[in-house]
Amino acid sequence: MIAIIGGSGLDRWPQLGALTAQAVDTPYGEPAAPLLCGQIDGVAVCFLPRHGAGHSLPPHRINYRANLWALKLAGARVVVAVATVGSIPAHIPPGALVLPDQIIDYTHGREATYSDGDGTGSCVEHIEFTEPYDAGVRSALRAAAIDNGIALIDGATYAATQGPRLETRAEIDRLERDGCHIVGMTGMPEAALARELALPYACLAVVANRAAGRGRSSLLAEIEQHLAGGIAAAQQLLLAALPRLTATQGNP
Ligand code: HPA
Repeated sequence: MIAIIGGSGLDRWPQLGALTAQAVDTPYGEPAAPLLCGQIDGVAVCFLPRHGAGHSLPPHRINYRANLWALKLAGARVVVAVATVGSIPAHIPPGALVLPDQIIDYTHGREATYSDGDGTGSCVEHIEFTEPYDAGVRSALRAAAIDNGIALIDGATYAATQGPRLETRAEIDRLERDGCHIVGMTGMPEAALARELALPYACLAVVANRAAGRGRSSLLAEIEQHLAGGIAAAQQLLLAALPRLTATQGNP
């Protein structure tokens, strides 16, 4: 089963209307919404809006542990996480789709591991996270983009910030010095939790705006202007990639 996590602008997916809602409980509580599970063109798919069905959860309140656990429990073999981001360098315009290959975590105070020494796991386990995104899932998305003529920027470092406020200009300057190309609020701990559960995971980032201090217009106006078009392109790519995603066995 292919799991798709929807982000801002992708709380609902009308084309997935035939899917059935499945309530799941986990040792970490309930996921953000019932999972929408079913078949699309013969491929088993499961959709979860990470901010909740009505976009009610801010990034720092999302129960990432419950979300990933629920997807694993429902039978997910591959996870593609759609995430809205701002872009730092000028060559990544609003509306672009980006396939990041690295991540830097600037978040704090989030429940970031299943290996918490809290008695629910047997012992503390360390994971390798040198390559935070699964190479097989990334190449399935890349190949589908090429075959369908969908523009996709391959390779970027994602800065995961705490939010829910946007950044200051100086913060974006610092992220740029750190080597980051895109900035969003939900990339972590989601990616690390997927790895802890051995779920092959990749992020499909939708650029909604130039990051703080980089564009000329208001950030919120820019997000409003570009989000829907970027999300539509991401949906098109995801649907085109489903057969390839089913074939990938994951390659962490
Ligand atoms: N910063 C952080 N998160 C975001 C942004 C941004 O500029 N745009 C969309 N999500």
